[in-house]
Amino acid sequence: DTIINRENKERVAREMAAMAKDGDIIGAGSGSTVYLTLFELSKRIHKEKLHLEVIPASQEISITCVQLGIPQTTLWEKRPDWTFDGADEVDSDHNLIKGRGGAMFKEKLLIKSSVKTFILIDSSKLVNSLGSHFPIPVEVFPAALSYVEHELQKIGASEIALRPAHGKDGAILTESGNFILDTHFNYIDASLEQQLKSITGVIESGLFIGYDVNVIVSP
Ligand code: A5P
Repeated sequence: DTIINRENKERVAREMAAMAKDGDIIGAGSGSTVYLTLFELSKRIHKEKLHLEVIPASQEISITCVQLGIPQTTLWEKRPDWTFDGADEVDSDHNLIKGRGGAMFKEKLLIKSSVKTFILIDSSKLVNSLGSHFPIPVEVFPAALSYVEHELQKIGASEIALRPAHGKDGAILTESGNFILDTHFNYIDASLEQQLKSITGVIESGLFIGYDVNVIVSP
């Protein structure tokens, strides 16, 4: 991040944290904006003795909550009153690409389970059409890899790449033990999310089309 980017993310994080009310159950996605918002929430929890519980989208965010002293719960026990998350791309209809961090399955589950969702971005995430800068990540059950690649080609994927692991050899594994295929399509229409999901072996994709989300842009 540039310094400007960081300051913009901090501003939007403070704005988001200010909306929390006593007793809220809050879903937290992943990424740096989520981290900054949790930091602001922890300040309020400790200063104002606010009672909140967070449902994290990943172990990374879960351990962040532990470090910040934020109480946590699970989707088994509670339904989020609201979820906040970042995004990699947002178009003018509030369709999203997510999943740079590989946690889009749980992020989608949180958003689907929430009464309300807030997507926190800086203006660099706004695009005229999805897929301008980021691939669409597709989480794939390992044994289905070749089959899914073939099916993705059939529905028009122009590029498919197995996401490599950070700092070691081989492919990345998600928290559920699956691979991620980063895919490009020349044309992304309203049905693509469903088409991806209907391939056997696809767990979830990072395409979020037609979700009822509130997008907060800074500046
Ligand atoms: C996680 O899988 C992504 O969808 C993030 O929401 C996204 O990468 C946003 O990250 P930043 O808040 O760090 O920009």
